[in-house]
Amino acid sequence: MFDVQRVREDFPILKRKINSYPLIYFDNAATTQKPQQVLDAERDFYENHNGNVHRAVHTLSQEATDLYEAARETTAKFIGAKNSAEVVFVRGTTEAINLVAYSWGIPNLKAGDEILVSTMEHHSNIVPWELAAKLTGCTVRYGKVHPDGTLDTADFEGKFNKNTKLASLSQVSNVSGVINDVKHIAKVAHEHGALMLVDGAQSVPHMPVDVADLDVDFLAFSGHKMLGPTGIGVLYAKKPLLEQMSPFEGGGEMIRDVTVNQQTERCGISWNDPPWKFEAGTPNICGAVALAAAIKYLQHLGMAEIFQHEKELTVYAMEQMLSCCTKLRLYGTTDASLKCGIMPFGVEGLSSHDVALFLDNYGVMIRSGYHCAQPLHQVFNLASSARASFYIYNTKEEVDRFVKILKEMEQF
Ligand code: ALA
Repeated sequence: MFDVQRVREDFPILKRKINSYPLIYFDNAATTQKPQQVLDAERDFYENHNGNVHRAVHTLSQEATDLYEAARETTAKFIGAKNSAEVVFVRGTTEAINLVAYSWGIPNLKAGDEILVSTMEHHSNIVPWELAAKLTGCTVRYGKVHPDGTLDTADFEGKFNKNTKLASLSQVSNVSGVINDVKHIAKVAHEHGALMLVDGAQSVPHMPVDVADLDVDFLAFSGHKMLGPTGIGVLYAKKPLLEQMSPFEGGGEMIRDVTVNQQTERCGISWNDPPWKFEAGTPNICGAVALAAAIKYLQHLGMAEIFQHEKELTVYAMEQMLSCCTKLRLYGTTDASLKCGIMPFGVEGLSSHDVALFLDNYGVMIRSGYHCAQPLHQVFNLASSARASFYIYNTKEEVDRFVKILKEMEQF
């Protein structure tokens, strides 16, 4: 049984008051708060086990290496990866997608090839492909989005052809919360001989995600959106792809041998095996360890239970917002079966920043702006939106206070 009050006790920041009101944190699509268990894991690492990984024979280096590689195992199991070598630690979703665009894209793409993305993507799933297109001459194509923010699946599927080399799609939109059927799209991609990358930044923290079941080639996600620290994220990739891909950055750790002939001034380099081939330099060791603590916390609650909790909150919030507020508009679909707990909205006569600042006066944190997804805002015919997004510690009582403040805002 999911006990939200019990969950809240684990989050020290939720005891804070902002402007003398109890903090209500509804900006979880941007980043999430951290439970004591994650804070303790970070502190324990630096207090007791800090050393560099894979480098020394001393005890602290061994302990740090064991913790770091155990974190990889935990992460691999969490997403259903067969082999922990398929988990590359990166800084976050953005770096994961850039890694694929550079290490797989640049050596494999050429003029005439096509990359297929959708118009609902975060800029981090658009710009790396446009950069790769500039360097390789390939074309980026954009699947259409319906006015309610859902994917035009027929258009997206219709854009696959023999030139499509990779489709890259978010599993959940960071603006609308719309869920895409990435399992089906991966099947269509494979039928056309294309690879499938899933941006899981807004799905992995909120619902069960299993790469074997989805049969995707790449999955990218961020630790800080799932109770972990900033600066740690994951690229999952099927092992044969990682073996074939070029390194992303050069430096220590990603090589097996470097030899220099002083006479000829020739350098010979051989790469390390994946995943280390893609982890040049000292990685975010403590970040990975804390991410594993976050994953264990989520697993203890159950991903299906988390999804259900957020679904109930979303249905309740949409009902309350629409029935209590006359000047409020929800953007995108309000069909809760198509989305998860992210709600973009606007209040007549007020900018999204005005709405966010008004709420902040009462201790309610939401995001305003275009949320790194300008093309989707163009579909909605908006320059920006206010956005409330839920996580495991949010409650119906918080929604009630949020709606009460929105009603008050309408008087202005
Ligand atoms: N991608 C994050 C968001 O949607 C930062 O807010």
